Amino acid sequence: MSLKAPRQAKFKAINKMPLIIDCDPGQDDALMLFMALNAPEFDLRGIVAVAGNVPLAATELNIRILADICNRTDVPLYSGCEKPLQRSLITAEYVHGKTGIDPLEIYQPQVQLQAQHGVDFIIDTLTNAADNEITIVATGPMTNIATVLSRAPQLSVRIKQIVMMGGAMFEGGNVTPSAEFNVYLDPEALDIVLKAGRPIYAFGLDVTHKVMSSPKRVAAIRALDNPVAQAAADMLEFFDRYDSQKYASEGAPLHDPCTVAFLLQPEMFKMKACACQVELNSELTRGHTAVDFWQVTDQPHNIHWAHDVNAEEFFTLLTDRLSDY
Ligand code: RIB
Ligand code: CA
Repeated sequence: MSLKAPRQAKFKAINKMPLIIDCDPGQDDALMLFMALNAPEFDLRGIVAVAGNVPLAATELNIRILADICNRTDVPLYSGCEKPLQRSLITAEYVHGKTGIDPLEIYQPQVQLQAQHGVDFIIDTLTNAADNEITIVATGPMTNIATVLSRAPQLSVRIKQIVMMGGAMFEGGNVTPSAEFNVYLDPEALDIVLKAGRPIYAFGLDVTHKVMSSPKRVAAIRALDNPVAQAAADMLEFFDRYDSQKYASEGAPLHDPCTVAFLLQPEMFKMKACACQVELNSELTRGHTAVDFWQVTDQPHNIHWAHDVNAEEFFTLLTDRLSDY
């Protein structure tokens, strides 16, 4: 699929943000990657696949295909955990299609996965980093990140911030009435992350349901004359079909791109420091993120909870970054 020489020459800026991305593509993960892979602001150290929307065999192939489409074969790609810490894997082909990035062509790109396990890659990167150096974007279940923190808790200080897509409070759940999918799949993993004492910026359904795609917004991306934008438009048209019916809306919420949009333009979001705990014991409310938004407890604040966004600025940023491929 690579049509041009690799693009890494563009990314030799200074003062770049050292970044690791952990994801489970998924069409919305793919759009997040399209933004990140064209951002000179980032020193992207690697992309790690986790099982989530579709099994690991699919998500690890999808990160290869997406990097190839973007001509970013310079970014090391890794495979991570194939199931949640304790629970069995539940996937979401009903939302994302069999491949996870339907309707894109599935093929074997030249770019291969690194031989090293994704968890070991993250541990090695933190080992060689300074304190508060590495930003982690996580847009799937937190299984890989929690495994890192459990195996090497002494390295958590090297993590500058964790920018995650997951959780829900005022919006309710999307996989059960109480829980958002990423957290529902591996609530024990999020519990470990919430207790690790690192800065967490959480983009749950409360904010992602405010960035809904629409035919007009997809048309603006479709009008861009490059293969990445066309792949984005193809995936959006597929991704919209399920959620637009479920929510009786014009389009689907663009969950995962909120993470990278925050890193690129934080001022478009409204965040509030809150205490957050996750339900582990009740089957009815498993994975519920109890965000103490109104400060009714004296629990310590452990997340910055995103609760509002300028949707026009979000889609302008997304479209701008897709136009530049
Ligand atoms: O609930 C939405 C989240 O679950 C998104 O990250 C989507 O890609 C799926 O992983
Ligand atoms: Ca995802």
